[in-house]
Amino acid sequence: MTEKVPPKMPGALPLLGHMLQFGKNPFQYMMKLREKLGEIGEFRMFHQEMVLMTGPEANEAFFRAPDEQLDQSAAYKIMTPIFGKGVVFDAPQHKKDQQLKMLMPVLRDKPMRTYAQVIAGEVEEMTKDWGEVGEIDLLEFMKQLTIYTSSHCLLGHEFRYELNEEFSRIYHDLEKGINPLAFVFPYLPLPVFRRRDRARVRIEELVTEIIAKRANKSEKSEDAFQMLIDARYDDGSSLSAHEITGMLVGAIFAGHHTTAGTASWVLIELSKRPDILKSVIEELEDLFGADGEVTFQDLRQANKLENVIKETLRLHPPLIFLIRKVMKDLKFKDYTIKAGKYVCTSPRVSHRIPEIFPNPEVFDPDRYNPDRQEDKIPFSWIAFGGGRHKCSGNAFAMLQIKAIFSFLLRNYTFELVSQPEVYQDDFEQMVVQPKEPCLVRYRKREATAEKVASQQSEAKTQPVSEQTIKSFQVRVDYDLCQGHATCMTEAPEIFQVDDKGILTVLQENPPQELLQKAKMAEKYCPTKAIKIETK
Ligand code: F3S
Repeated sequence: MTEKVPPKMPGALPLLGHMLQFGKNPFQYMMKLREKLGEIGEFRMFHQEMVLMTGPEANEAFFRAPDEQLDQSAAYKIMTPIFGKGVVFDAPQHKKDQQLKMLMPVLRDKPMRTYAQVIAGEVEEMTKDWGEVGEIDLLEFMKQLTIYTSSHCLLGHEFRYELNEEFSRIYHDLEKGINPLAFVFPYLPLPVFRRRDRARVRIEELVTEIIAKRANKSEKSEDAFQMLIDARYDDGSSLSAHEITGMLVGAIFAGHHTTAGTASWVLIELSKRPDILKSVIEELEDLFGADGEVTFQDLRQANKLENVIKETLRLHPPLIFLIRKVMKDLKFKDYTIKAGKYVCTSPRVSHRIPEIFPNPEVFDPDRYNPDRQEDKIPFSWIAFGGGRHKCSGNAFAMLQIKAIFSFLLRNYTFELVSQPEVYQDDFEQMVVQPKEPCLVRYRKREATAEKVASQQSEAKTQPVSEQTIKSFQVRVDYDLCQGHATCMTEAPEIFQVDDKGILTVLQENPPQELLQKAKMAEKYCPTKAIKIETK
């Protein structure tokens, strides 16, 4: 096979390359590139050569490449002053891997089960003074709400209640420090960078104080903060306050704007489609009743709402492109991408391939129904990335958005204040969200039916015709497993996950009576690492 270089986009300007066209609207530019050159094509940002890869096969090559070949740290340099030197993406590879693993227990199955009620409680608290009718800026509301929910679930009691106002100020100053200038001059003496650095120092002081206070308490907290205090590197050493601070801030940043933007779009899209909204509300009332308690188990069964969220993420993925530096030549089909270039993929472009998602601009949550499964081709739907670097917070994000709407939609009706076409994505932000102002009007719903708890077991809602199946086999793609351990909760006879998140399959050919449990493990694994093959 002859070795080819990726085709190049015409129209590069001297010095600037394609910077102006890309900067004006990165999404449109990448769509144009795919239309013109196909699944792989090169463009230039100043002197830097960038290769865009889109579509399932190209996405798979991008996401499955090892870190030594495609390095993601370079893309995160902008965050080093915020997360801290030597923390996660600024740490050497072996340390980074260990630090990321230490964050995993927070997102494992067991703690996740406690988050649903916490989140629903925060929504209730934030809406308690709304009254009968009113108007809100939806994005602002979701940003505030997700900061409360993440700080509650991750940072714990002290930050959420005792230090709430100070934490809001600190977070604001850190957030304002995310500026493209920081790629090149991260410590320029600008007021915005000074405030960012003061905020980073202050939050580390607070973390240090809390660690000391907690050490003297007999009762142990169970939040992410405590898990990091108790975590150990492979050599037995603990994390410093500097590292704990960076990792907690990193975890909150990762989920904040992404979740707030997605939750806002869910409501905007639903407001445009009353028919879909009606079916989602019916599903929620079946599961929870008009005023029932929001539980983890019920949220998992909210399939219509889940499809709505997936479809929202298909049309409005918060990260419209992901970028890596090529450290060793990367081969894709008969193309070679040389070391030194940057390679990127675009969820937003890949999600609009009509051969995979017919009528791609139409909001159609039924695409994911069992009879259609338009996302079944691996690496076609990549809103959370893919491969070993798939966003490990994806299950938390899904749970959070489901819990938010399980409360909001059962208690309020919503309508858009402006014409539907006014609600557009803002491509000037690094994390793409709806443009502000993003106004919606709410009205308190009349109390409706009594709680009609659907007491159906999951076995009933997800029937498997076991009579026709003679045997089954468990397959795991270890490249995708991140140690979430949901599989162990669902089928402990088959899956075992140790404290470090290492999965062992106890039985590859389990007996027939475990099929239902195995299917549940397959369904709820957040990274889709499990495949159950039936015969
Ligand atoms: Fe791995 Fe999925 Fe189980 S990530 S530990 S296979 S739930």
